[in-house]
Parts: sequence; C-alpha cells; structure tokens
Amino acid sequence: MDQAQTKRIVLGITGGIAAYKAAELARLLVKRGIEVQVAMTEAATHFITPATMQALTGKPVLLDQWQDANGMAHIQSSRVADAIVIAPATADFIAKLASGLANDLLSTLCLARDCPLLVAPAMNKQMWANSATRRNVRQLAADGVMLLGPASGVQACGEEGMGRMLEAEELAREVAALLQGSDSLNENSLTLALSRRERGQERELAGVKVLITAGPTYEAIDAVRGITNRSSGKMGYAIAQAALEMGAQVTLVSGPTALSKPLGARAVDVTSAAEMLAAVQQNVAQADMFIAVAAVADYRVAQPSAQKIKKSDASLTLELIPNPDILAYVANLPQPPFCVGFAAESEMLREHATAKRIKKNIPLLAANLAQNAIGSDDNELVLFDDAGEHLLPRADKLTLARALLHHIIKLKFNLQI
Ligand code: CTP
Repeated sequence: MDQAQTKRIVLGITGGIAAYKAAELARLLVKRGIEVQVAMTEAATHFITPATMQALTGKPVLLDQWQDANGMAHIQSSRVADAIVIAPATADFIAKLASGLANDLLSTLCLARDCPLLVAPAMNKQMWANSATRRNVRQLAADGVMLLGPASGVQACGEEGMGRMLEAEELAREVAALLQGSDSLNENSLTLALSRRERGQERELAGVKVLITAGPTYEAIDAVRGITNRSSGKMGYAIAQAALEMGAQVTLVSGPTALSKPLGARAVDVTSAAEMLAAVQQNVAQADMFIAVAAVADYRVAQPSAQKIKKSDASLTLELIPNPDILAYVANLPQPPFCVGFAAESEMLREHATAKRIKKNIPLLAANLAQNAIGSDDNELVLFDDAGEHLLPRADKLTLARALLHHIIKLKFNLQI
C-alpha cells in the first residue's frame, strides 16, 4: 500500500481489565496494514505495559501531554489520524468524553480531533446500566461518536451481563470497514455514521433492553402427554438475534424448541404458559420493549394427572381452563414497555389482526397467515399500527426480524435512544 493510502488510527487505551484485548486489536490492525499510534491513560498502564504496545505497533506510546518537547502531541497526533478508536473505554472515560473534558493526553487528543471517534465500552454491567452512563452514552451518540458494543457475557467480576468489550476480531473488522468506507476520512463522524447506517451496520438498539417470548408452550395432560402447537420458535429467535446485532440486551423466554440460543442472549427456558408468565413477570420491570412471539397455548388441563392415564373403553373428557394472556398482562401494566404482539391467522388476516391489536391494547401487531409460516425459514408479515398497515414482503425470518425492529425504532425509539 502506498504511503498516501495508508490509514492511520490512534488507539486509545483506558484503565480497565479489557485493556489486555487492546494488544490483540493493535496486532490485527497492524496486520491489515493500518498504522497504529497507541495513546494510554495512566490507569491503562496498570493493566498492560506501554512496552507491549510499542513492540506490537513499532511506535513509542503517547502517555502524557508533557512528554514531548513542545506539548503539542495532542494536536499533532489527531491531525494525522483517520480515526481515533478508544478500546477499552471505561465508564469514567466515557463520562469525560460526554462532558468534553481534556485533563489528560488521551481526552485532549479526542477533544482536539478532526476525525471520527469510535468508542468500545467495557465495564461491569451495573456501571453500564447506571443512569449516568446511559445519559453519557446518549450524549456521545448525539455528538456523532460511534459506539462499538458492548456485548453481553461473563465479566471479569464473575457476574454475567451487558458491558463486556467486543472481541478484538470484531473491533478490527469494524474499524477496517469504517476506514474502507470513505476515501476522505477527515470528515465528521456523523457523516460516517450515516454511511454506516446505509450499510446497515449501525447498532441502533445499544443499551435498549428487549424481552422476547418465543416458541410453543406445553401443557401437561399427564406424566407423558401434553397439549402443544406447531410453533418452531424460529421467528422469535430471529428477532432475538437481530436485536442482539443492533446492540440490544436481550432476554429470551422460550418454550420447548429444537433451536440453539442466539449467542449473547439471556435465555430463560420454560415449558408451560404459567411458567412463561412467571418468567416474564420477573423480567418485565427492566424491559424497554416486549415482543410476544410465543404461540402460547390458550388453554391448559384443569387437573393434569401426575401418573400416566391408562386407556379404557370409556370415553375420556379433559376439562380445559383458559391460560393467562401474557401479552395483555404486560400491555396493561401501569408503565408498560413498548409492546409488540404477533398473530397467526388462517383467514381474514386484516380483520382478525386489527381486532386483536385493539383488544390487547398494543401499539403494534405483526400478523401472518399461519399456513405460510409454521416451521418455514421464511415468511411474510403485515404490521398493524396507528398509522395503518405495512407489508414486510416475503424474506427469511432474520431479514424480517431486522425490518420489524427498524419499524419499531421508527415508531418509538428514534427520539429516546
Ligand atoms: N399471547 C400471550 N399469551 C397468551 C396468548 C397469546 O402472550 N396466553 C400473545 C402471543 O405471544 C401473540 C399474541 O398474544 O403475541 C397472539 O394473540 P392471541 O389473541 O392469543 O392469538 P391467538 O392465540 O392466535 O388468538 P386466537 O386463538 O383467538 O386467534
């Protein structure tokens, strides 16, 4: 690659345990032909040494604004950079960026930049969920700063949840894609964010908590028999996958299915409608969005037998009693999350779907013809909301899931995240 085409980034490392991943990130970026200038906060040097970073990048690490002769490292480095990438970005550093503070070399460099700023948060799940961090992250997004992650998973503190830094490979891919996306990278990051959006690579649901029910329920008749339905769970799992891709924190409450759980989702396995309701009740207070995709059995057996029922010549009558309506329960909470329902109809789609949306008191209902959907990998959805009807044309379920989430974001979340 000739000198003029070489892309240069400043890799800012702040003081968190995920700093060890920055070494691999630097290595991968250098391998892709990107020139990497590392700048570290003082706290970062407690987690990984400047010597390691210098060895990987071939450049002395910038550590403090007083180290160079004329104190102009911040201007010089940001002037030649095509992008600044902060990985890991601690809650403290995000707060600094959101307030425009410049009290060390790295924050000064960010404030003095004339290039896109990408931030890969890494912190404990409570710190990520804290309202101050949420406010700061929203501020960064409003300032055109690009957020890469975080992801959900096991954390250094032993807890599990949102806040884990993306893996080095993912970050390297994102950074390289961004650098390739524009010939002139010294434009503002909002423009670049828009071009990313056009490429469908945005993380529009960063920090949004999505609760999803999926799959069938199974209502026991006796020890070995039960009532269920033909839902495969594919649509609900596809929505969970799409929401994760968009940066959401996903809790997936699933009835029995043969599918493997999307990586990064918090999964709660249930069997019956009663168990599904209990799982939803436990998780709904945290949710910003509730998407009820499960095909919940409308009835259960009044008195299931603990033992296998023996056959006889006499006829057998099972008394069925109604199950609780989980979606209606959530939609009628005093402060409900944004509720989305699904309806599988076998005829008169528009009439049934419109009536169902009103009866359930929900802003959005996605309807399909059951015979087109069950078990299949693709489908066609019609969305019903206050504005009317919107067709999501036949596509695979993941594509439909992404389109559905984009519709929800347009309806509800544009102004709130
Ligand atoms: N739902 C629910 N709890 C139930 C029944 C349904 O949460 N006990 C949710 C489904 O997940 C779906 C929507 O409600 O989002 C479907 O509405 P519903 O009226 O129950 O649909 P059907 O069961 O198909 O209704 P009907 O049998 O009357 O057509």
